[in-house]
Amino acid sequence: MLSVEENQLLTRVGPGTPMGNLLRRYWQPIAPVAELDETPIKQVRLMGEDLALYKDLSGNYGLLDLHCPHRRADLSYGILEPDGLRCNYHGWAFDSRGNCTSMPFEDTAHPEARFRDKVKIKAYPVQAKAGLLWAYLGPDPVPELWDWDIYHENGYKTIVFGHIPCNWLQCAENDIDPVHFEWLHDTWPLQLRGERTADNVPPKHLKINFKEFEWGIEYQRLRDNSDDWQVGRVALWPNALYTGHFEYRVPIDDENTLSVCWNNDPLPGDAPFVQDRIPYFWSPIKDPKTGRWISSHTVNQDIIAWVGQGAISDRQNEHLGSSDEGVIMLRRQFLQDLKKLEETGADPKAILRDPSRNHAMYLPRSGGGVRFNERGGLGPVRRPSVYSLYYGLPDDLRDDIERVIAERSAKLEQNEPTAAG
Ligand code: FES
Ligand SMILES: [Fe+2]
Repeated sequence: MLSVEENQLLTRVGPGTPMGNLLRRYWQPIAPVAELDETPIKQVRLMGEDLALYKDLSGNYGLLDLHCPHRRADLSYGILEPDGLRCNYHGWAFDSRGNCTSMPFEDTAHPEARFRDKVKIKAYPVQAKAGLLWAYLGPDPVPELWDWDIYHENGYKTIVFGHIPCNWLQCAENDIDPVHFEWLHDTWPLQLRGERTADNVPPKHLKINFKEFEWGIEYQRLRDNSDDWQVGRVALWPNALYTGHFEYRVPIDDENTLSVCWNNDPLPGDAPFVQDRIPYFWSPIKDPKTGRWISSHTVNQDIIAWVGQGAISDRQNEHLGSSDEGVIMLRRQFLQDLKKLEETGADPKAILRDPSRNHAMYLPRSGGGVRFNERGGLGPVRRPSVYSLYYGLPDDLRDDIERVIAERSAKLEQNEPTAAG
């Protein structure tokens, strides 16, 4: 359990809050690259800040205060320029560093006053990587944006977004909670499908193990059928799960979280698979017919657990057991880093400063990254008829993945000698 004060400390992420300051030291994924290719300006809310994300006419990204510093109009309705974004109300323009580059009336009527040199707008750096746009809201110097090994591997990559109406920390604590699989993802779905019987009992967790490393905490489990995570799963610092796919829990504000799931589905054959665009979709979390949360898919089940804890879990009322060792480690690390940041300003865990290290960095991987598989079995040729992580895989995306798999499988078969031959 945490005290009310500790709980507030760890969960509040707005500007000027201690945890907000800590999380602002890390790059956060905020939107798909493909979305800005289609619609080049977007309103985003990140850690309680309302911002306008855009891709200008030269193809550069920027992230500015949503409100124009003139008379506060909404810049997500702005006009794109070769170097930045212009407000649609009176035409003031800003570059991605926050400089005001044009004030049409002031520049014309009073050019000598150079009023524009006196006005700046809040601006944050944005980088594109792995089909995602990442934002950094912290102080200079800007750290490296991690380049993980899986980004460079062959596979069909997809990104799924979801809006989760609760605080980010209860989502992040789930990144280090092995025992919930047995119940939330194994036992409960059996019950939902009417398949739970005395003989159909999921394997029990016997032992769990947690190990801190540079980029997070790795955890393993022993169940009574196998030690199926000999390589651990990773609570990737500060707010993601990694098991061959990434699930980021990005704080929108204190009571809302953006779920960003990045998948790499390995494909048959070794021929490089080139994607001009990494497709994405938004996963609905509520069944419009019943008004209840969708429970059919793994992350949807997680979401039910997280929102069920309340908008911000009241941790003063919880009772942690030995299954929660990882959760305790995670909180302790954040509390230590908060103290360090306040006292010395030193970098918290998992900040990368050395660009020479930042290429295809190794992460332990417990899963194969295969997600577009039929439940209950993987053949050499997988079919994406069930995407088991998130509800709502669009038909056209499923069709395209099936097409790619079928084409590559056919090519493989042509090249392989048949049994008779
Ligand atoms: S409010 Fe933006 S230019 Fe006037
Ligand atoms: Fe889960």
